[in-house]
Amino acid sequence: MVAALVLFIGALRPNVILWTIEHQESPIGLSLIRHIDREKGRATVAVLIGERSEQRKGFALEAAAIRNDFAFGQLELRSLRATVRSENHASRGLLERAGYKLIGTAAEAGVGGSGNALVFELQRRGHERQRETAG
Ligand SMILES: CC(C)(COP(=O)(O)OP(=O)(O)OC[C@H]1O[C@@H](n2cnc3c(N)ncnc32)[C@H](O)[C@@H]1OP(=O)(O)O)[C@@H](O)C(=O)NCCC(=O)NCCS
Repeated sequence: MVAALVLFIGALRPNVILWTIEHQESPIGLSLIRHIDREKGRATVAVLIGERSEQRKGFALEAAAIRNDFAFGQLELRSLRATVRSENHASRGLLERAGYKLIGTAAEAGVGGSGNALVFELQRRGHERQRETAG
């Protein structure tokens, strides 16, 4: 399955990759990499655990770790960004736990988004450091 995905990505070079997150053979959420820019080595990420009874069980954190490994390993990107509303404490907490750093408001970071949108970023070096610490 992973080999098929790598072949697909190598051949078609899509700028969006979407995973379904499953638990006990039921879909509970989505993980997304979009705006994949191979020239600049960056992309935007998002995750959703839509099944509320499955939230706060570590699924989003696990999905973020898999996605980060894939983006820096297979896609060889240099940085990942996520935009969240400032009042979205769950997403902010998730991004911080996943190693992302707050770099400023959407306006300061030069990306689209509403006035209270915040931008978080994980760079390749930060990802590698985090893996070393975890390992
Ligand atoms: C944000 C979201 C994806 C988190 O999913 P989850 O599977 O419940 O998160 P996890 O169980 O993996 O939690 C990982 C960390 O995120 C933070 N977190 C998750 N839910 C939180 C909440 N309700 N309040 C505060 N922090 C929260 C915590 O730091 C948590 O670590 P901890 O449990 O050790 O304290 C989920 O709440 C969701 O889908 N929200 C709506 C969609 C959304 O805002 N997506 C983000 C777009 S970028």
